Amino acid sequence: MVDNRFAKRLFNFYKNRWLKKIIMIHITRRETFNAAHRLYCHEWDDEKNLQVFGKCSNPQWHGHNYTLFVTVRGYIDDTTGFVLNMKDLSDIIKTRVIEKLDHKNINLEVDFMKGKIPSAENVAKAIWEQLKQPIREHGGELYRVKLIETENNYVEYFGE
Ligand code: NI
Repeated sequence: MVDNRFAKRLFNFYKNRWLKKIIMIHITRRETFNAAHRLYCHEWDDEKNLQVFGKCSNPQWHGHNYTLFVTVRGYIDDTTGFVLNMKDLSDIIKTRVIEKLDHKNINLEVDFMKGKIPSAENVAKAIWEQLKQPIREHGGELYRVKLIETENNYVEYFGE
C-alpha cells in the first residue's frame, strides 16, 4: 500500500509538471499616452502629402490620444501565481515607451522613431522593439502590441 501511494504521488508530480508546460496564459496591460505627429513623406510636396495622408499631414502638427495594449504570454509561476508581475510590466512599458512618447512630438522628439513615418503601424512596431527584450528578461514573451489611434482605427503587431 505504501509503495502504491508513493507511485501515485510520483505520477501526480510528473503529470502536474507536464500540464504546467502546456498551459499558456496571456496577460494584457493597458497604458495611455498622447502625442503629436505629422505623416509626411520628404519626397513629396505638401499637396501630394495632403492627398495621401489627409488631415494627418497637417504641416502644423496635430495630436492623438493613444491607447496601448501590451499582451504577454507565458507560464504561471508556482510561487506568485503570475506569468509576470503586472507592476513590473507596467514599469517596463512606462520607462521604455510611455515616458518617451507622452506629450511629445513623435516626429521630432522620440529617439526610437527617428527617421520613421509616425503612422500607427510604425509606432506599434517600434514599441514592440522597445519591449521585447526587457519582457523576456522578466520571464514573459511579448505576444501582441495593440495601438488604438482613434476610436475607429487601431493596429496590431505580433512580431512577424
Ligand atoms: Ni494623425
